[in-house]
Amino acid sequence: MTLKSFISFGIALCCILLTGCERQVSFSADVKPILDNYCVSCHSGAGEGEAASGFSVDDYDSLMQGTKFGKVVVPGSSMSSSLYLVVTEKVDPKIHMPPHHDESLAEGRGFALSRTNIETIGTWIDQGAKNN
Ligand code: HEC
Repeated sequence: MTLKSFISFGIALCCILLTGCERQVSFSADVKPILDNYCVSCHSGAGEGEAASGFSVDDYDSLMQGTKFGKVVVPGSSMSSSLYLVVTEKVDPKIHMPPHHDESLAEGRGFALSRTNIETIGTWIDQGAKNN
């Protein structure tokens, strides 16, 4: 491989990697289905999660409103968003979401989100948490 072709290969590779990272995550097509599958049973209506925290995942507006204590999404920063932090392993196991601490496990509902689902939520927030 000549130096010139090596450089153009490098540039092409960077472009592929960059566009890969830039894939636009959609709220309605990507994020909402995750919330509907794993969160809505507790975070809607009379669910225990909404009762305890005031946090409902019914729609975009309620999601952005957050809990009774404040917002859980900081657009542009997943690392400042409790919505993201509670689904990663970055928080105390007691507040992992969906709950998979000892009591939940015993009740057969302890499971974590897949890595892909966690990253989808994180990327959506980092891209501005748009209602797209
Ligand atoms: C089995 C019921 C249940 C499920 C399923 C569930 N939650 Fe929760 N969630 C709770 C309860 C109960 C609380 C209140 C916990 C507390 O305050 O100790 C809570 C609290 C929260 C909070 C507020 C945390 C805080 O204190 O700031 C967030 C954010 C949250 N849940 C997100 C989610 C997300 C996202 C999902 C889906 C991936 C989810 N939850 C699934 C029951 C649930």
